[in-house]
Amino acid sequence: MSAVTTPNLNRFAARHHLAGLSPSSLAAVATDQHGYSIDKAQRFLAFQSRIKQELLRHRVIIANPYTAWFRHGVQSGEQIKAFIEPYLAYDAFVCGPAPYMKMVTTVLRELEFPRERRHQEKFVSLGGNPFGDIEEMQEAEREIADAESDDAGDDGAAAEVAGPAGPVKLEVELDGSDHTFDDWDPKVKLLEFLESKGVKAPYSCREGECSACAIRLLEGEVRMLHNDVLDEEDLADGIRLGCQSLPMTDNVRVTYS
Ligand code: FES
Repeated sequence: MSAVTTPNLNRFAARHHLAGLSPSSLAAVATDQHGYSIDKAQRFLAFQSRIKQELLRHRVIIANPYTAWFRHGVQSGEQIKAFIEPYLAYDAFVCGPAPYMKMVTTVLRELEFPRERRHQEKFVSLGGNPFGDIEEMQEAEREIADAESDDAGDDGAAAEVAGPAGPVKLEVELDGSDHTFDDWDPKVKLLEFLESKGVKAPYSCREGECSACAIRLLEGEVRMLHNDVLDEEDLADGIRLGCQSLPMTDNVRVTYS
C-alpha cells in the first residue's frame, strides 16, 4: 500500500474487514511484515469476537458464585480450588500475571488435573523487536548463542553443551508436510534454520518466553538456550522451543503437531 498514514490504514482496514485491529498490527499487515497476513488478521478478529460473545458472556463467568471474589482482586489457592473443582471435566486455559498463573497451576497439579488439558500463555516485555530485520536479528541471536557457549565453557559446563561437530540430519513434520534436511548447522537454532530453508514455522517472541514455537521431539535431542515457559512435565513430554533449540544429536526428528 502507499504511505502508512492513519487515513490509509483506515481505508485498508475497511477494504479488508480488519476494523478492530490495533494500529500497529494493522500497519504490520498493510506493509506485509513477516508473520502477518490479512487472512491471519481476519481469523484473529473472528476468534476475538467469539471469545467476547461466547466465553465472556457465559454463565460460568457472569453467574457463578465462586467468582464473586474476582472483583476484589485478591485470590487464595483455596478460592481458586473451589472455582476449578466443579469444572474438572473441561480444559483449563491459564493466563495472567506470573504469580497468579503459578497459583492456578499449583492448584491444578494438586487436583491431579491432566497436563494435556492444561494450556498456558505468558505475556512478557521483549528485549528486542521480534519483527525487525530478519538477517540482523539472526546475526544478533547467533552472537548471543556464541557468547552463551563461551560462558558455559568458562564455568566448566562445556561437556554438558557439546553437540554434534558437523551438520545434523533434521526431519520436521509441519502442517501435514514432511521436510528433511541433512545440513543443519549445530550452531543455528531450529527456527532460524527452518526459515533459512523457506519453511514457515510458527513463532512469536523468539526469546523463549511464549511457546508459540513449541515442537515435540520424536527422535534425538536438542538443548534450549533459554526457556522461561516450559515446565518439567512439558520437557518430559518431549516439548521444546524451536526458537531456542540447538541439536545435541546427529539426527533429530520433530513435529509441530
Ligand atoms: S517464539 Fe516464543 S518461545 Fe519461541
